[in-house]
Amino acid sequence: MASQPVLGVCYYPEHWDPAGWKRDADSMAALGLQRVRIGEFAWARVEPEPGQFDWNWLDEAVETLAGAGLEIMMGTPTATPPKWLVDRYPDVLAVDRHGRPRRFGSRRHYCLSSRSYAREAARITGAVAARYGRHPAITHWQTDNELGCHDTVRSYSSEAARAFRLWLQSRYGSIDTLNQAWGTVFWSQTYQSFDAVDLPCLTVTEPNPAHVMDFKRFSSDVLVAFNAMQVEIIRGHAPNVVILHNSMGHFFQFDHFELGKDLDTVGWDSYPLGFLDVGPYPKADKQDYLRQGHPDFAGFHHDLYARCGGGRFQVIEQQPGPVNWAHHNPAPLPGMVALWTLEAVAHGAEAVQYFRWRQVPIAQEQMHAGLERIDGTRAPGGEEAREAAEILKSLGPLPERGRADVALMVTYEGHWLFETQPQGQSWNYERMLLDWYGALRRKGLDVDVLAPGDDLSGYKLVMVPSLPFVDGEVLERFEQTGAHIVLGPRTFSRTPTGAIPPDLAPGSLQAVLGLKVLHSESLPVDHVEPARWSRDGTLAKAQIWIDHVDAQSAPLVQTESGAGLVYTAGRYAYVATVPDTALLDRMVAGLCDRAGIATLDLPKGLRMRRRGGLVFAMNYGAGPVRLPDGAIGTGDELIVGTAALPPGGVSIWRRTPGV
Ligand code: GAL
Repeated sequence: MASQPVLGVCYYPEHWDPAGWKRDADSMAALGLQRVRIGEFAWARVEPEPGQFDWNWLDEAVETLAGAGLEIMMGTPTATPPKWLVDRYPDVLAVDRHGRPRRFGSRRHYCLSSRSYAREAARITGAVAARYGRHPAITHWQTDNELGCHDTVRSYSSEAARAFRLWLQSRYGSIDTLNQAWGTVFWSQTYQSFDAVDLPCLTVTEPNPAHVMDFKRFSSDVLVAFNAMQVEIIRGHAPNVVILHNSMGHFFQFDHFELGKDLDTVGWDSYPLGFLDVGPYPKADKQDYLRQGHPDFAGFHHDLYARCGGGRFQVIEQQPGPVNWAHHNPAPLPGMVALWTLEAVAHGAEAVQYFRWRQVPIAQEQMHAGLERIDGTRAPGGEEAREAAEILKSLGPLPERGRADVALMVTYEGHWLFETQPQGQSWNYERMLLDWYGALRRKGLDVDVLAPGDDLSGYKLVMVPSLPFVDGEVLERFEQTGAHIVLGPRTFSRTPTGAIPPDLAPGSLQAVLGLKVLHSESLPVDHVEPARWSRDGTLAKAQIWIDHVDAQSAPLVQTESGAGLVYTAGRYAYVATVPDTALLDRMVAGLCDRAGIATLDLPKGLRMRRRGGLVFAMNYGAGPVRLPDGAIGTGDELIVGTAALPPGGVSIWRRTPGV
């Protein structure tokens, strides 16, 4: 079904004099924005004293914004429990891994396992939803804010310990089963009862990895349940709204595929410059893309969260200018705010909302840009939001995000395992995801992100950078599809309880791959093992990790010391090292050839994405680029831009139907 992508903005009426609200609302509408997000941090203003509600100001803000023709996304304010609440219920506060309680004075200072907090969060969610659930202008509801942000998924409180023991009891049934699964015979760790199990912190040296993994699974489940509790309450008062949550960039501490199951659609907060600075990017990329963001940052997360939202997603917060929270906070290159907006739409975003309307002169985020400056004049981001709104209007309704030919499989649980037992400091699963994703995007391909166990039918190529847990359902899906499947190192290297498979890695995949991993080694980050492609002698390299395999076939790539790095068996390929860019590029080119997928060689910094009959091209490069030959087909109609894109430029063309 085609729909018009919506632009919006995050607004905090409580920060501003009510006399200015109408002017703000009218200016938002005049800029071409159709939606405004409010409310997610306003608990202390809505309920200044326990049980004493002050709705007047929020009623007035809602009416003023709605009066300007804006639709509203209302947030539940549970990310910011007021001071009186934590004073009254001290067990609300989370405890860090060093056993220190978190303090009041910023946000997200609550423990997801606190029973007092569950009750209070349900109470305030119910109160807000009862008041505004049927307001005709409130079309969307956001639960909490960035669940897990500021390292808040895992709390080491006594409330968390209590809930963890119950969780373990229901997972294992008997303490003997737990002892068996965790391997507690090692180092005399045997437990006599569930009550004896503590949280995996403050141990002398590393805690038992199975214990840690279960604590991570538990913490993810508790977070998902906390969100589901809010969704259910909102749904009861507001049956016809869209309920979503704003997830984050580069955040893997809970299972977002699970979170998405309870929501109508998933949202995420896109800060390309902030995350270039703090994210897992090579130094050269941090320099080359300083004012643009990494060309694969936004795209990867759009595709990831589209999967979490069952094909639907929105950008709930879009960076509008410099942020305040990275190590360095540069300003975007002119054009980038519009580019990020249009790129999100190209990936299927139903909405893009900028964070925030006006820079605020006070408190923690006073250095964070808005669409307006503090004096109410339009900031560069505001001007680009206006330009993006005009372009979107000219494009009209767009079809939903379609299905891609190629897919990338992402595992949260696997990420937790690698974080728990890296076995080599250079191993970085997130980096691998971005590298594999980037290799596909540099070939001009659209990519779907998939969860382990997803149906693979219809795909031509499925890339799995690593999937450490042996999983029968995943193997069945591999066998059912006709897709080419590429598996990276450490795949199927653990049983579901975290043991090394009795028949060695890659467990049940050995039969289809025709190989077995005899031993693995990790390498320092700058150590490279020279290798060659056997067909033409082209140089390659092994780095970071090598699975030394015993294989039935000869390797396609081999190190000079004889370790095989790439093997194929029918539709399957196994990569026994962490492939660098050159190895990935050559593998992707070869696989696309074999799978009958047409590719392009995009110049550095250029990315393309199709939505319905439209093709979008975005230039993240610091210099101008030209679209490669064949990108625009004969008869295609350019709507925005030209075949030459300036830095920060976007071109959009309509494909000739039927071609
Ligand atoms: C997000 C958060 C917002 C605001 C923003 C600043 O992570 O959801 O409330 O803090 O960052 O960039």
